Amino acid sequence: MLTVSEVTKAFGSRTLFENVTVTFNAGSRYGLTGPNGAGKSTLLRIIMGLEEATSGTVNRPEKVGILRQNIEDFLEARVLDVVMMGNERLWSTLMERDVLYEEEMTDDIGMRLGELEGIIAEEDGYTAESDAEVLLEGIGIPKEDFEKTMREIPTDLQFRVLICQALFGDPEALLLDEPTNHLDLESIGWLENFLHSYNGVLVVVSHDRHFLNAVTTHIADIDYDTIIVYPGNYDDMVMAKTSVRSRAEDEAKSKERKIAKLKEFVARFGAGSRASQVQSRMREMQRLQPQDLKASNIQRPYIRLIPTEKQPGKVILKAEALSKGYDGVGVIKDFSLEITRGDKIAVIGSNGRGKTTLLKMLAEVLEPDQGSVELGHQVAISYFPQNHSDIIDKSTCTDDCFSWLQGRGNSLYDQDIRGALGKMLFGGDDAFKKVSALSGGETARLILAGMILSSHNFLILDEPNNHLDLEAVSALAWGLDEYKGTAIFASHDRDLIGGVANKIIAFEEDGIHVYEGNLEEYLETKG
Ligand SMILES: Nc1ncnc2c1ncn2[C@@H]1O[C@H](COP(=O)(O)OP(=O)(O)OP(=O)(O)O)[C@@H](O)[C@H]1O
Ligand SMILES: [Mg+2]
Repeated sequence: MLTVSEVTKAFGSRTLFENVTVTFNAGSRYGLTGPNGAGKSTLLRIIMGLEEATSGTVNRPEKVGILRQNIEDFLEARVLDVVMMGNERLWSTLMERDVLYEEEMTDDIGMRLGELEGIIAEEDGYTAESDAEVLLEGIGIPKEDFEKTMREIPTDLQFRVLICQALFGDPEALLLDEPTNHLDLESIGWLENFLHSYNGVLVVVSHDRHFLNAVTTHIADIDYDTIIVYPGNYDDMVMAKTSVRSRAEDEAKSKERKIAKLKEFVARFGAGSRASQVQSRMREMQRLQPQDLKASNIQRPYIRLIPTEKQPGKVILKAEALSKGYDGVGVIKDFSLEITRGDKIAVIGSNGRGKTTLLKMLAEVLEPDQGSVELGHQVAISYFPQNHSDIIDKSTCTDDCFSWLQGRGNSLYDQDIRGALGKMLFGGDDAFKKVSALSGGETARLILAGMILSSHNFLILDEPNNHLDLEAVSALAWGLDEYKGTAIFASHDRDLIGGVANKIIAFEEDGIHVYEGNLEEYLETKG
């Protein structure tokens, strides 16, 4: 069991949630929901003890599995080791043992080694590697990658290794922050099954409706400055939340009407002879005092991308015989592509097949080993990387949102920057929020604000909908659909692909296929 008691968290004048008491029970699977910036990651950090609450207390079990987001810190470690690090007690014991074996043997060291072996046995250390292998295999990491360092495997697989790390060592509670980002459908299916058979306390943050519906037994929703637990899955929550809200709104309205009537009575007879009646009505009015309903935190950004006036030529990009590999393993082999003006291309397929590699080469941020990429006349690219840290290094950046956009060049007017920030929901003081404090979805919105302000007629987006909440994803689909330029984007989101793309590049087992048609037509040809 995991309990949060009377917890409040505020940053300056902004309250995320106030005086919240929630119990998360073993055997139940909780989805933690709320729009970008609601405070989901913050709550998880408070539960883990990594961040202080403004007030209140948390009780958590001893062994908690956590999905880490700081991939950078693990790049030099071996894949199997990264998984085993998930059991901290075991890992630190193994490390200490290795150090002691290097030293000259003394009685003390011998004693200590004995103790360490005891801990290793307690923590199932002797089967640790094979336990780790089972997890890695399950989530679809090829066997030949187990001994590699994290740096040597593609980014999307690195994320999966971190999921295995969280799952390793039978934790009593599992806290997962957006585990399906960077996962393809197959691995999401695997994770769903795994979580179904997990019998500890699960709290999982996600913006993925399908995933939440498949996994959760309860939803803890952050809104109205509090956290409300609804039984059922995500769709059940939305229905319950809407009906509770409309009941509260109806009640508030009927109270207002009553008060208006009472006021009228008091105004008419207040100065007259019906003093006692007036008194009782005034008391009634006080009792009815309408409570302000807290506003919902759900908001929709406005993602409108307008291409530069400079019209590009008919051919936007020509890639010829592209090949790229890492450490001698070919990822993309002899691939050619011509993109013409007005194309909206979706790049789809399982993780690890090279979608990001291709997009990086098209965006000219990665050199191909062989072949060439040639941009058409007057083509201006705007690129959204899969890994936000490729363009915003939150660990070192001291900018606020406004100055970060200003620093991107293009001699922008202040009011244009404020305009773009406002559309991306950084209104008022939020424009001067530190970039280092931004949530995942807020970071994505800031990058989109940068795209809105840049001059472009060709957009390259690599899984832009990761981290974004439902409102933002649908605003993005709208924005891409309306875009009068050319766009290519990688995504696993069926609604986005189906709604926008008129051409599909499918990364499949037998190679990369370019399909002239939309998703529906493509799926039909596949039967
Ligand atoms: N040190 C800080 N100072 C000021 N504001 C902060 C700080 N840390 C976080 N915030 C703000 O608190 C809010 C909650 O952040 P959090 O990361 O918990 O959101 P989230 O619900 O996980 O959002 P997302 O869905 O985008 O991941 C955000 O608006 C964030 O900018
Ligand atoms: Mg978050």
